[in-house]
Amino acid sequence: MAEDLHIVRGTKEEQYRELIPQIKGLLEGESDLIANLANIAGALKEQFNWWWIGFYLVKNGELVLGPFQGPVACTRIRKGRGVCGSSWEQARTLIVPDVEKFPGHIACSSYSKSEIVVPIFRNGEVIGVLDADSEFLNHYDATDQKFLEEIVSLIPEESWK
Ligand code: SME
Repeated sequence: MAEDLHIVRGTKEEQYRELIPQIKGLLEGESDLIANLANIAGALKEQFNWWWIGFYLVKNGELVLGPFQGPVACTRIRKGRGVCGSSWEQARTLIVPDVEKFPGHIACSSYSKSEIVVPIFRNGEVIGVLDADSEFLNHYDATDQKFLEEIVSLIPEESWK
């Protein structure tokens, strides 16, 4: 597998369409969870250069910080708290155009202005979330939702064992 990512310009959709096969290549044949989540975060950071991109995983009833790219972040989030804990509780993707208008938003960084959180499911349960933060307002939309949901579904089943 080539470790160099091919970065493309173009529409958001074109960028995701070029990136997804490369993420598949990075995950192929690798069963280690940390390695796979780290490479997904790295690939998304390289392609989109978002302010913060990473994972929180459900451990002992709370979300615990996992592999990420960006500034240091809060390590633990309770169910129903912030955008991540709300996405977990509601078991659905949340797009927040302006984090200041989201009641209970957890400000890990004052630079973060908008956010998308995508739950990761296994056997019908949320087992973690993918969180992306932007320093720009209104940065994430249905295109991000569609492709990020696809990307988290690519995490190999063996990674969770
Ligand atoms: N803002 C998130 C917390 C995680 S950080 O943004 C990395 C939230 O409200 O859940």
